[in-house]
Amino acid sequence: MNRTSEDRVEALLRQMTVEEKIGQLSLIQSDEGRISNDLRQRIRGGRIGGVLNETDPEVAREIQRIAREESRLGIPLLIGRDVIHGFRTVFPIPLGQAASWDLDLVERCARASGREAAASGVNWTFSPMLDIGRDPRWGRIAETFGEDPWLIGEMGAAMIRGFQGDDLSSPEALATSAKHFVGYGASEGGRDYAATFIPETELRNVHLPPFERAVEAGTPTVMPSFSDLNGIPATGNEWLLTDVLREEWGFDGLVVSDWNAVQELSVHGLTDGDREAARVASGAGIDMEMASQTFAEHLRSILDSGELPLSRLDAMVRAILRVKQRLGLLADTSPEALPPAPEPDLDLAREAAAACTVLLKNHDSILPLAPEALNSIAVIGPLADDPYEQLGTWIFDGDPALSQTPLSAIREEVGDAVRVEYERGLETSRSESRERFEAAMVLARGADVAVLVLGEESILSGEAHCRADIRLPGAQEALVRAVAETGTPVVLIVMAGRPLALQAVVPHVDALLFAWHPGTMAGPGLSDVVFGRVAPSARLPVTFPRVSGQVPLYYAHRNTGRPPTPESVVSIDEIEPRAAQTSVGNTSFYLDAGDSPLFPFGFGLTYSDFAYENVRVSTESLRTGDSLTVSVDLANQGPVEAVETVQLYVRDVVGSITRPVRELKAFQRVLLASGETTTVSFDLTTDDLSFVDRHNQRVTEPGAFHVWVGGDATADQMATFRVEDGS
Ligand code: BGC
Repeated sequence: MNRTSEDRVEALLRQMTVEEKIGQLSLIQSDEGRISNDLRQRIRGGRIGGVLNETDPEVAREIQRIAREESRLGIPLLIGRDVIHGFRTVFPIPLGQAASWDLDLVERCARASGREAAASGVNWTFSPMLDIGRDPRWGRIAETFGEDPWLIGEMGAAMIRGFQGDDLSSPEALATSAKHFVGYGASEGGRDYAATFIPETELRNVHLPPFERAVEAGTPTVMPSFSDLNGIPATGNEWLLTDVLREEWGFDGLVVSDWNAVQELSVHGLTDGDREAARVASGAGIDMEMASQTFAEHLRSILDSGELPLSRLDAMVRAILRVKQRLGLLADTSPEALPPAPEPDLDLAREAAAACTVLLKNHDSILPLAPEALNSIAVIGPLADDPYEQLGTWIFDGDPALSQTPLSAIREEVGDAVRVEYERGLETSRSESRERFEAAMVLARGADVAVLVLGEESILSGEAHCRADIRLPGAQEALVRAVAETGTPVVLIVMAGRPLALQAVVPHVDALLFAWHPGTMAGPGLSDVVFGRVAPSARLPVTFPRVSGQVPLYYAHRNTGRPPTPESVVSIDEIEPRAAQTSVGNTSFYLDAGDSPLFPFGFGLTYSDFAYENVRVSTESLRTGDSLTVSVDLANQGPVEAVETVQLYVRDVVGSITRPVRELKAFQRVLLASGETTTVSFDLTTDDLSFVDRHNQRVTEPGAFHVWVGGDATADQMATFRVEDGS
């Protein structure tokens, strides 16, 4: 913050009573659409700093008017809302957006969502979520950008740029909140809110980097995780919130607790009751308390007894006022009216739905479908025509009336020339009844192609919606088999909030499109892909296991001392009865699932065919501080123009702590016409090769490195180079 802004904050702080200061620390649930007497009195008395979940523009305006005109110091409120992947117009879930590998698209979706929310009076979003998504059982993986720390950081920064723009005081900008700090994605067993045990080197190499990136990108607020981190829940974790966040990274914004998380410190068993919870959380670094009111109730007595210095209270209030100042809320002039609600950006929602859909299988190039070659299409499945379920989790403000479903879009695309008939097959994605299978089979038998739209309805992912078995729920696997038995080619579209274990169905379908929850324009976006108006370009931001029991399964794992080899991995069926214990060799894999995922991180097909050749480095030896260029020749050998997402992975072969077998360091989306070739180059510096060592120091260690460039995390074209000691 510049001097004048800081002066404004200090000037206000000097005028505030202790009660008014404590008031700023409260973030409470709004009355949603009205202002109760109690809320009015609290605003007038300067006893709250913000509300969440008010989205009625008139009420929001009135709240700010009361704060400005009727409270002693006229300090407006933060108005927070979870704008996670859209507002009225819903874009693909964050995990889906990550699959686009398109930072510009993520930024544009955030900007469009922010503009809609700002028109409702919201000035703060609890987004982006930067948790590491390596366990698809965890329902909140839907909200993540996947499993890779670097990609998550880049996506998060793009979302922050989208919401905040260049100027946070613009009426269309929202302040962001990087959440959940930190390690929430590592909740044991993929059970929401469960404890995490993460060694400091792992925290620093994997979980913290996306947050550091968000701080660099200018997020003014950070939300700690609900979870217990190595025995100290994040909400009461001074090392995390003060030593790392503020002292190491220089963060000067606001740390807001998650919902009731301060009070829950006592449920965790870290504190004994609300007073102690307030003392521990405020001392650890929480500035603003969401929902529970332990600060409001106990901070005065904690301050009076000297258990918390007044300087800490001032620091908490300063952090909150700084955000208000950056949002332009403390300006002397009252803001103009709220910006008008923009028209829903349906074109962007359609573009995003197509750009986030990953083509995972395309046997005999069945896709794209050519309407002129078809007489009839059987559309089957409970998610083919459900305006609500295609939206996904966290869509409080989403308007299902805007939704266009796959069924309606397919009908619109093919017009009268092709007969399109529909059968749900199952009542919901969870239904077990096979009553309608016969009808589905009759429809499929009479059609040239069956398009199945299956997956998870919205409620099966998101917060507190974890699954132990991540196959298609209900009788959906059986429905796929039944339809496939008819012999009609099957195109399976899956909408889901997490990676699913699809091993049992993939062999039965000709094509597989994984669309996540694509949002408002799921239908037109998918139809663009299915009929080839858009060649799919999305890539998995997360590994897809074969079966649930393989998770967590992620590409950047450590090698172990006994990694599997193609020869060492045997299947359970190959083992002779009474085989000796040593007969299968001792390497790291599952007898019943092997060692590999169903689809690796970074994977995705398109309608063309790309060939990589001649991965090379500009130098085979470089000194710390230098850089090198890695290049590859890329050819589009397929029939159509398409985007290839060229990915670069590195392995630091020997480290003072063992390093992952591969780490994504860069990618480029390259558009090539059919028959076109190009050279794709990446510059890498030795900083890009650094990691945090056992002494918690960031280092680039001399030694050998492998570098691969290719279309997914199993890319096999490699070059090598060495980093020499720079000294
Ligand atoms: C979630 C947060 C969210 C908050 C406010 C909590 O339950 O963990 O991600 O921002 O609620 O709605």
